[in-house]
Amino acid sequence: MHNSLGLTFFLLLLLLHSLVVTLVSAQGSNKTTLWPTLSGNPPLVIARGGFSGLFPDSSSIAYALALQVSVPDVLLWCDVKLTKDGAGICVPDIRLENATNIAEVHRNKNKVYLFNGVPTRGWFSVDFTLNELANVYLTQGVYSRTNKFDGNSLQILTVQDLAKTTKPQPGIWLNIQYDAFFKQHNLSMRSFVLSVSRSVVVGYISSPEVGFLRSITTRLNPRTTKLIFRFLGQYKLEPSTNQTYGSLLKNLTFIKTFASGILVPKAYIWPVDASLYLQPHTSVVADAHKAGLEVFASDFANDVPFSFNYSYDPVSESLSFIDNGDFSVDGMLTDFPITPSQARDCFAHLGKNASAQAKPLVISKCGASGDYPGCTDLAFMQAIADGVDVLDCPVQLSKDGTPFCLSSINLIDSTLVAQSSFMTLSTSIPKIKTGSGIFTFSLTWSQIQTLTPAIANPYNNYRLFRNPKFRKAGKFLKLSEFLAMSKNASSLTGVLISIEHAAYLAEEQRLSVTDAVIDALSKAGYDNQTSLKVMIQSSDSSVLMKIKDQKNYERVYRVDKNIRNALNSTVKNIKTFADSVVVSKMSVFPERQAFLTDATDTVSKLQSFKLPVYVETFSNEFVSQAWDFFSDANMEINSFVMGANVDGVITDFPKTAARYKRNRCLGLGNGTPSYMTSVQPRQLMQIISQAYMPTAEAPYPVLTIADVAEPPLPSVSARATTSRPVGGSSSTSVSARATTSRPVGGSSSIVKSSKWDDLMSWINKLL
Ligand SMILES: *[C@@H]1O[C@H](CO)[C@@H](O)[C@H](O)[C@H]1NC(C)=O
Ligand SMILES: *[C@@H]1O[C@H](CO)[C@@H](O)[C@H](O)[C@H]1NC(C)=O
Ligand SMILES: *[C@@H]1O[C@H](CO)[C@@H](O)[C@H](O)[C@H]1NC(C)=O
Ligand SMILES: *[C@@H]1O[C@H](CO)[C@@H](O)[C@H](O)[C@H]1NC(C)=O
Ligand SMILES: *[C@@H]1O[C@H](CO)[C@@H](O)[C@H](O)[C@H]1NC(C)=O
Ligand SMILES: *[C@@H]1O[C@H](CO)[C@@H](O)[C@H](O)[C@H]1NC(C)=O
Ligand SMILES: *[C@@H]1O[C@H](CO)[C@@H](O)[C@H](O)[C@H]1NC(C)=O
Ligand SMILES: *[C@@H]1O[C@H](CO)[C@@H](O)[C@H](O)[C@H]1NC(C)=O
Ligand SMILES: *[C@@H]1O[C@H](CO)[C@@H](O)[C@H](O)[C@H]1NC(C)=O
Ligand SMILES: *[C@@H]1O[C@H](CO)[C@@H](O)[C@H](O)[C@H]1NC(C)=O
Repeated sequence: MHNSLGLTFFLLLLLLHSLVVTLVSAQGSNKTTLWPTLSGNPPLVIARGGFSGLFPDSSSIAYALALQVSVPDVLLWCDVKLTKDGAGICVPDIRLENATNIAEVHRNKNKVYLFNGVPTRGWFSVDFTLNELANVYLTQGVYSRTNKFDGNSLQILTVQDLAKTTKPQPGIWLNIQYDAFFKQHNLSMRSFVLSVSRSVVVGYISSPEVGFLRSITTRLNPRTTKLIFRFLGQYKLEPSTNQTYGSLLKNLTFIKTFASGILVPKAYIWPVDASLYLQPHTSVVADAHKAGLEVFASDFANDVPFSFNYSYDPVSESLSFIDNGDFSVDGMLTDFPITPSQARDCFAHLGKNASAQAKPLVISKCGASGDYPGCTDLAFMQAIADGVDVLDCPVQLSKDGTPFCLSSINLIDSTLVAQSSFMTLSTSIPKIKTGSGIFTFSLTWSQIQTLTPAIANPYNNYRLFRNPKFRKAGKFLKLSEFLAMSKNASSLTGVLISIEHAAYLAEEQRLSVTDAVIDALSKAGYDNQTSLKVMIQSSDSSVLMKIKDQKNYERVYRVDKNIRNALNSTVKNIKTFADSVVVSKMSVFPERQAFLTDATDTVSKLQSFKLPVYVETFSNEFVSQAWDFFSDANMEINSFVMGANVDGVITDFPKTAARYKRNRCLGLGNGTPSYMTSVQPRQLMQIISQAYMPTAEAPYPVLTIADVAEPPLPSVSARATTSRPVGGSSSTSVSARATTSRPVGGSSSIVKSSKWDDLMSWINKLL
């Protein structure tokens, strides 16, 4: 099923490369669009070390992946270092141990050299011949990225190797960072660059050293090779002019005498304040364009926290550089080239009125709880403004029986109640949760209204926090207020009311949450209208049974554990009380240590019985996504929509999902560009070498009737005799992105997989 949709990343690499290039160029960027770049051409995507956000920087597979999933004119960036015998190699750091295993291979051959007057110990290319580096392999240098490809014996590439793999298009971009250092070692970058550009097409050469660029500027054909002056930190001294980069920025006419463009850190264009909020953009792009210089921005990476204004959506960040109504940079230097590729070809210049190209309902999770404290007026209004289809309210009851919206029955989860005088109401109710809590039914509604909301920070153990400026903002709404607000929002197609702990509340607190919901809906006039769909969700089948007479309402059954399928008998049973189903992301694409292992039959099985399937929970923070999705929330949503055909996505960040639906790369059939194609589960995992393979785990169970069946909801008045199992409180756990420690033992024990051999032999043929 998925094969027809997915891009077969690696096995068909050779075939696909040429294919993808033709398909993409056929429908890619709209030639009639006017880009406010210097040339009027679409901005370039420059892949720093290939797809270095995923694979070891500057490795053959990193470059191959960049070619496959990017716009066809992607430029491959190589950070050139010279070996003792003058070969030019691509490695990201001057200290080779940063991204290779050289410290193991040449154990005692580290040295100390001066950099900007600072003695620096490390392994440097000037001390090794190319031959001595033959057994040194590229590894992951950034510890927050996966090291699972470190066992793949990825050789260091020379500039000539790289040029051969990318022949004839697109070009390569050479960055010359340390001309002065190599000069001290009697190695000439100038000679290397002039010589290599006689045999290889070099599209761009960048350097932060004025002297170096001036020494080659008259020797290269500017039609073939553009020279780009790279700005470092504003206060750093440029060695050949002895001026700071900040002051050189005020002297662009001087730059223009030896370069045709500049490369600046992205904060030169969009500065951020100390708390990581965007300030107004500078005039750098306009000034440089006026001086006839192209502007390239650097430091784009999906897995490094960027400004809060982008809500963790890297496409939003890209768009702010190329589609802001004011200017466009001429290119972006990124570790994740798929993201600016999407931004450029699928999302830029979409227009406010672009219509939805894909079906899935965008369902909020406590409103836009990625941006504001969940279930506050601010979160709901933001979700509506973001274009959510279905606004949700998880209903809780106060002590005096007022239904209101809050993510959890435990006030500690989404308010600062623990720091209030109500902390004395803390109690332990094992039927609801282990440990103690302060529960909504212990406070009256007027008491609850005095509580300070608290934004959810599900990934704070990764130090990823949500919109801190507004972390306590907003006010909570009664269900009736929520319903009035929703009725007023003409863009909504429905509301989703979720009900949990109904049995406990009836039995122990004498509160009927189902009656409270039905009553509020009816009072708000939802029972006799058809313009807004009403969805009532529960993980307790008895709740949905109880409301089966409410024919106008869609009953949504939430499966509260990870499954891999459901028995036909179970699905038939679900159909007796539900009209649609919510499952976890893991029930669709299971993962192991954040690598997709499979595509289950869960969605197709439920759909074959005409039950729409909504999937939860989509978040923008990259740690919430499997590696396969390239740390890009849009790729994750796209794979569930295009690859698994889900009917709805439940999300903390409705803006991302709503914009995704409208992007122009959908609905193109065979013409779908690779950067908007569903990823293939297992494909990444197949490349991992044996020693680094995540350990196998038992597959998720198949859903049975026993999982679904519940005793009828006890009535509020009657004293219950049988005690019920704890119902529907366990939330589906989010995959923790495992930061696994590296396997012990040298790389000699590492065995390659056979699939890997196929790719390697292909790459080797090209080398
Ligand atoms: C290209 O631009 C034209 C004119 O603005 C527009 O009609 C057309 O729909 C665009 N095509 C795509 C694929 O966006
Ligand atoms: C390698 O360099 C990167 C980028 O400067 C840095 O984040 C990382 O910590 C370095 N790794 C090692 C092993 O020095
Ligand atoms: C560079 O060459 C000069 C002159 O040939 C020599 O004196 C010097 O020692 C060399 N430096 C290095 C680091 O090899
Ligand atoms: C650069 O400036 C510093 C002090 O500002 C001075 O000591 C140094 O000699 C200068 N170097 C050059 C090459 O002009
Ligand atoms: C621009 O820089 C050049 C080289 O450093 C210098 O000679 C010139 O005076 C500078 N011009 C201005 C306006 O600062
Ligand atoms: C970024 O967000 C902050 C806080 O919401 C806001 O004040 C600021 O204007 C935003 N910056 C830009 C450039 O939109
Ligand atoms: C978008 O749609 C609105 C209402 O349908 C209309 O008033 C507006 O002119 C449209 N804008 C564009 C740019 O088409
Ligand atoms: C409904 O919308 C109107 C007009 O935009 C506004 O005046 C009113 O306050 C809104 N009511 C609610 C409950 O949001
Ligand atoms: C819906 O119910 C409200 C209040 O119960 C009533 O005023 C209204 O006329 C009803 N509308 C329809 C279309 O039945
Ligand atoms: C389960 O239902 C599907 C779809 O209705 C049907 O194709 C399949 O044969 C059934 N399987 C069994 C074991 O009955």
